[in-house]
Amino acid sequence: MKIVVLTGGLSTERDVSLKTGEMVAGALRDNGHQALLLDAYLGYGVPGESLEEIFERAATEEAGVSEITEEAPDIAAVRAKRADYPDGFFGPNVMELCQMADLVFIALHGENGEDGRIQAAFDLFGVRYTGSGYKGSALAMDKGIAKQLFLSGNIPTPHGMLLKKKERPKLSELTINFPCIIKPCCGGSSIGISIAADSEELKQAVDAAFLLEDCILLEDYIQGREFSVSIIDGKALPVIEIAPVKGFYDYRNKYTKGGAVETCPADLLPEIANRMQEYAKRASEVLGLATYSRTDFLLNDKNEIFCLEVNTLPGMTPTSLLPQEANAVGIDFHELCELLIKVSLKKYEEA
Ligand SMILES: Nc1ncnc2c1ncn2[C@@H]1O[C@H](COP(=O)(O)OP(=O)(O)O)[C@@H](O)[C@H]1O
Ligand SMILES: [Mg+2]
Repeated sequence: MKIVVLTGGLSTERDVSLKTGEMVAGALRDNGHQALLLDAYLGYGVPGESLEEIFERAATEEAGVSEITEEAPDIAAVRAKRADYPDGFFGPNVMELCQMADLVFIALHGENGEDGRIQAAFDLFGVRYTGSGYKGSALAMDKGIAKQLFLSGNIPTPHGMLLKKKERPKLSELTINFPCIIKPCCGGSSIGISIAADSEELKQAVDAAFLLEDCILLEDYIQGREFSVSIIDGKALPVIEIAPVKGFYDYRNKYTKGGAVETCPADLLPEIANRMQEYAKRASEVLGLATYSRTDFLLNDKNEIFCLEVNTLPGMTPTSLLPQEANAVGIDFHELCELLIKVSLKKYEEA
């Protein structure tokens, strides 16, 4: 197949996406596809450039993507690279190339990729893509809305409240259980997330989160173990445990080798593991997701499970969780990429 692997973009998870894209494009080429690695924001060439035989050339082109840095990327510097074409999100020739392809493998994470807007644009332009559709992606991306849907589906989630910047909430008037977690509603990769032990720390954390987004979530801090469960085509993969070596599962621990110890299948009572898998399936259902997703959980020492969020485009980097879960049931990375294509194409058969 002619496949565009869409990567990069402008979200704070840009670097993670570049790594996912590089890995996926490499595997798809090995599998015999003509895979073109394309940065959604930087695009290819200049508008009007001849795109003839680009997929044939893509089969042999090397992808020049660097390691994920320990800090989130400098988005202003990325924008500056496209100073000649500042308008719109899609870079030169991106939509043209996506329309020429048989399928777009969406290797984006965060804003613009995971939030449903690209999926909506693709639906209107008649482009086929991997992963869930626009509506479920948008619902899952907003942790405030997703929390409401979890509750409606009897999926336990930490008690939380939403704060809106324009309402300028008086923190002293709120009833808050310390320690608490502060997170931007639509962020990812733990960027902008902090733990506050008292009202002074809370004020700082809220100010910092409001710099990133106008809507933030304040949650009870759940002390315990951390897990994730991926769903492919309605079926749960084995639970994976993530144990950060130091602190919580922040950006550094997520993307630095050795930042966290990951165990799959997780060492859990079968009854707890089954319940987590069941909640992951249910979470994907209440959000209306298709194809694949990965749900994050916490477990406290009373064996109470809390659902944190659903990732609609989980990472596919060398240290990512979904590939590890697939591996535990004998699906290697190359097979996983094929499987994700297969289940993604189903949504067009059923339409
Ligand atoms: N309520 C909570 N209690 C304890 N830790 C939390 C809580 N919410 C988030 N965390 C920590 O922050 C990490 C990121 O939170 P999450 O909600 O999964 O957002 P994202 O992964 O999109 O940044 C989690 O993996 C966990 O380590
Ligand atoms: Mg998470």
